[in-house]
Amino acid sequence: MPGMNVQALKQQAAERAAEFVQAGMIIGLGTGSTAIFATRCIARRIQSGDLRDVLAVPTSLATEAAALELGIPLTTLAEQPRLDITIDGADEVDPDFNLIKGGGGALLREKIVAQATARLVIVVDDSKLVDRLGRTWAVPIEVIPFGWQSQAAYLQSLGAAPVLRQDGDQPYRTDQGNIILDCDFGPIADPAALARDLKSRAGIVEHGLFIGMARDLVVASEDGLRHLRKS
Ligand code: A5P
Repeated sequence: MPGMNVQALKQQAAERAAEFVQAGMIIGLGTGSTAIFATRCIARRIQSGDLRDVLAVPTSLATEAAALELGIPLTTLAEQPRLDITIDGADEVDPDFNLIKGGGGALLREKIVAQATARLVIVVDDSKLVDRLGRTWAVPIEVIPFGWQSQAAYLQSLGAAPVLRQDGDQPYRTDQGNIILDCDFGPIADPAALARDLKSRAGIVEHGLFIGMARDLVVASEDGLRHLRKS
């Protein structure tokens, strides 16, 4: 529909994905301005009686607070180490469903939950689609505060321009108390290789490249909704 704003597109994609949730499922609740629409929709389905016997694992403290307020029954990975479905947003999506995530800072918990999930559903408006990761978005990299400047130098040696994420006049802190270096690599030729290089460095806790994890993609655009599945 011409003239729809981005918020409306995010809502459409998220609410379509929320329909995939079925009774009895263990659900991962994503973080961000798109995933919250799915969380609210799931809450409405629970309240109306349309969705029964579900439990949810939030991917951030912010999502946990929202889910508690919405009355969604929560659980933990300690109690439920395997999830049926997780609905989450992304900052960029490439044609192979590889992602950059972490614009909201929750990349570590998001990746832990994604890796514990049978079906990761990514919900985006079509502005997030790119031919190559890194085209429009820097890769968020969560780093231990101790000696972070050394990790910044390493990231520079890999071709990035790291920027310490700020929260006002203080460094931004993740839910784990770590910091984030937003790393502009430009368009990334081989995201899997870069992911391996990032994981090989002590002090780097996690990075926002999600390679080969998403199974479904729901994209909203002014031309309508598309649900794409990985074969
Ligand atoms: C949170 O850390 C992120 O991974 C978000 O899922 C991602 O940044 C997309 O956020 P929006 O839906 O707010 O664009």
